[in-house]
Amino acid sequence: MSYPIKIEKTTQSRINQVDLNRVAFGRTFTDHMFVADYVNGEWTNLEIKPVSDILIHPANLTLHYGQAIFEGMKAGKDKDGQPVLFRPEMNARRLNFSARRMCMAELPEELFLQALTTLVDLDADWIPENEDGALYIRPYMIAMDSFIGVAASETYRFLIFLMPVGPYYANPVNLWVERKFARAVKGGTGEAKAAGNYAGSLYPARLARQRGFDQLLWTDAIHHKWVEESGTMNVFFIIGDAAVTPSLDGSILHGITRDSVITLLKDKGYEVQERPVSVDELFKAYDKGILREAFGVGTAVVVIPFKSITDEDRVIELDPGSFQIAPMLKSELNAIKKGLIEDKFGWVHHVGVGVGS
Ligand code: COI
Repeated sequence: MSYPIKIEKTTQSRINQVDLNRVAFGRTFTDHMFVADYVNGEWTNLEIKPVSDILIHPANLTLHYGQAIFEGMKAGKDKDGQPVLFRPEMNARRLNFSARRMCMAELPEELFLQALTTLVDLDADWIPENEDGALYIRPYMIAMDSFIGVAASETYRFLIFLMPVGPYYANPVNLWVERKFARAVKGGTGEAKAAGNYAGSLYPARLARQRGFDQLLWTDAIHHKWVEESGTMNVFFIIGDAAVTPSLDGSILHGITRDSVITLLKDKGYEVQERPVSVDELFKAYDKGILREAFGVGTAVVVIPFKSITDEDRVIELDPGSFQIAPMLKSELNAIKKGLIEDKFGWVHHVGVGVGS
């Protein structure tokens, strides 16, 4: 099925004002955005138009009670210069998972993919082609009812906008183990990509930065013993010969890069353990000399090594220069996206081919 998307192209592209090889993460936007409204139980007013402000009423429900969800994705170019997306159907599904949890309207996956591919195709010239560059894609949905009562909105707006980006972190990161504040609790909203999860992380993250750390390593909300995730990413530890990552137990985001990394590791014959991992286990493994690598994975960061993990007065210090698995994963993912190696899992979606073309 093809949806009727109205397209209004900009008459004044801003692309010549931007050096695509030198863009900071998240501050430069392409020319166009996609917008759709959910009214009377259906998605309507489907439109691609020049990026502009959106008008909302002061009583907009999102502003008061936080019905807001989002996705993060990247588009790159393959070796022939054609725009490609990475597992976009997974983001479409996860958006709807988040929508159900936050009592919001679901969006047909075909509409998500058609809007995405049409928009990326239109702004494909904005895709940076350097090693760490990509077009970061931000699909999101907000409530649109103007009503001051705690209730689910009946109207929603779904938007997609695009940003040429460089690396999220310039260097390997130093983590602070967070044992006081909690990001999410089982049964809460931690599994959903809900805006409020990130709002709640800002204050503890600021405290960690004031202590000189780049990011938090979140622990479970009840015992502050089990490792969950870090800032904007899922986490992996190479302990002995196994790759260990916290199991998805109800408070951890179902990362698409996490899933891809697990698949790649298994395919290469590594043992992958998805299970609870405690902070103490990491320190014991470090003391025994068998904590070989620690790294974060996510759309924005791709794969980023951890340089240190500090838990109050004890510190794990790692040498990212000696890591082998983290850089291998990063280059495999990049090579699959660029079409330099076989896409044996069918992860790459060529824009302009298939749905949305
Ligand atoms: C992503 O990795 O795409 C994320 O959503 C992290 C983001 C908050 C920058």
